[in-house]
Amino acid sequence: MVTRLGYVRLRVPDVAASAEFLQATLGLREVERVNGCVYLTCSERHHELVLAPGEKVAYEHIGLEVSDAQALEDTVTKAEAAGGKRLRLVAEEPGVLGSALVEGPGGHRFQLFHGMATDPAPSLAPGIVGVRAERCEHVSLDVRRLAPMARFLVDGFGFQFSDQIGNNGMWFRCEQVHHGIALVRTPKVGLAHYAFALSRFEDFKRISDHLYGLGQKLAYGPGRHGPGNNLFIYFFDPAGVLVECCAEMARVGPDHDYQPGRWKLRPGNVSLWGGLPTLRFLGANTPVGST
Ligand SMILES: [Fe+2]
Repeated sequence: MVTRLGYVRLRVPDVAASAEFLQATLGLREVERVNGCVYLTCSERHHELVLAPGEKVAYEHIGLEVSDAQALEDTVTKAEAAGGKRLRLVAEEPGVLGSALVEGPGGHRFQLFHGMATDPAPSLAPGIVGVRAERCEHVSLDVRRLAPMARFLVDGFGFQFSDQIGNNGMWFRCEQVHHGIALVRTPKVGLAHYAFALSRFEDFKRISDHLYGLGQKLAYGPGRHGPGNNLFIYFFDPAGVLVECCAEMARVGPDHDYQPGRWKLRPGNVSLWGGLPTLRFLGANTPVGST
């Protein structure tokens, strides 16, 4: 079973521009560069985000961690029984001991991995904004139908159901963090956004001021989501992929008698503080691209 969200691998036309923006804004640090791909981290872990070069913007896969080599094979077997398909691995990802690429419903791609390298004394510094993100925390996937992907995440990867809003969105956890993967029902398939956790609300102000200096507005927020109870802002990275910054995400302990929330679909539940999502936020979609 999956034990945590590991990383997101994006394909972008200008790797240097995207890397520079994310280093400045979120305090990510380049760990290594292999075949034009840049590996970025903000923690002791080898990578939290991978930028691969390519003409068209896409997300190549979501990295999901399992405990060891046996768990990797067991999880692939369960994922296949739940409707997934094992794909040929183009190349091993640097910084991990083993991995397997699995395609799920709608063509979404997940790279299961184990044994990520860690640096016990990483040289971590805030970006020029003065912010250092804590980790890559979750992704939100656009799906045409919720049920097949929900079944796949639970039966194939061992995720647990956290919350649902109307018949439009579902949230799933694979650790104590309230959600590692969210699903949004839309006509398009792809990545709605990827999210990094920040330690404090003050960081949101620093990032928002920095974006204003770049002539860029927030796509949504600041606010506090109903499902997950997390603080949020959203903005676009230079490739046009929607980024969420989160803080204070709810935790669900292993012994917690958690009852999944059933939220009505209304703006006051998407943002408890009020404020409507922008059209740019609602329409954000980064399609899946083969690795
Ligand atoms: Fe999110």
